[in-house]
Amino acid sequence: MTSGGDAPGMNAAIRAVVRTAIYHDLHVYGIMNGFEGLIKGNMHRLEKGDVANIIQRGGTMLKTARSAQFLTSEGRQLAYESIQSNEIDGLIIIGGNGSLRGALDFTEEFQLPIIGLPGTIDNDLYGTDFSIGFDTAINTAVDAIDKIRDTADSHNRLFFVEVMGRESGYIALFTGIGSGAGNVIIPEVESSVDNLIHYLQLAAKRDKLFSVIVVAEGSKLGNASELARIVSEKLPYTETKVTVIGHLQRGGSPTCFDRVLSSRLGYAAVEGLLQGIHTKMAGIINDKIFFTPFQDAISKKKEINPELMKLVNILAL
Ligand code: F6P
Repeated sequence: MTSGGDAPGMNAAIRAVVRTAIYHDLHVYGIMNGFEGLIKGNMHRLEKGDVANIIQRGGTMLKTARSAQFLTSEGRQLAYESIQSNEIDGLIIIGGNGSLRGALDFTEEFQLPIIGLPGTIDNDLYGTDFSIGFDTAINTAVDAIDKIRDTADSHNRLFFVEVMGRESGYIALFTGIGSGAGNVIIPEVESSVDNLIHYLQLAAKRDKLFSVIVVAEGSKLGNASELARIVSEKLPYTETKVTVIGHLQRGGSPTCFDRVLSSRLGYAAVEGLLQGIHTKMAGIINDKIFFTPFQDAISKKKEINPELMKLVNILAL
């Protein structure tokens, strides 16, 4: 099943799970709408051909949901009954933090081997260098900013571009470096409006009047609109504009990197279940497959490399 926010590459992961399972002569079922479908028993058998021609598609053929019912013990009881009546021996859940937390709660109440795959554009799960969908999302954001730069440059305007990531600054940081942003505001690194103003004044001194500031949606300094308003008040000579990239980042054809990552993880999940691994998330660290306990994957902090933030500041000026 896929669960939580969709992420480009989920289809490639489903394809890999189905084909690896069939390679091992297993029967594989696709559960629709995440935990909602599990509760309702909405699932169907998948054959090799059912996952043909999906590797290049964004979204998820199994659809997804953020299930409120699964958060209740009654909902989880119904889900378990549906697992028993459908004779399911193991579950692979492709999703983000909330989905893996749901999986952990489930395994604490009921006996069922579950392996999770990190499927989220946010890249906020501990136990993998990259999560499924992150690379596509940052490429989409960089592509959008390349276009914004053209008009920002022509008009000498200061753009505040807000990207997704919930409480994580990964999307903003990578997008900022990749798009040559003037500054990046992320929740993990303390910054101040004064610092931002200082940077903009330094840039203005060398006649750099246009700039793009990438703001993570979880920014503690305020969102892109609030920051634009504060900066316009403090630097009246700048003309500020705001773009929120929003759900554009969640869609589109997955990059080759995401397709390869998803294929490797989908394969690893099936192999893992067959080897008796459970209650763990499959991830890739330094090009090697690792299985991390759900508890660590969702609660340990995935640190931002401070060198990357330093890089933003050095390269911007
Ligand atoms: O977790 C993925 C994500 O896109 C976050 O970056 C964002 O905060 C959230 O989902 C948006 O959720 P929804 O699509 O439910 O509005």
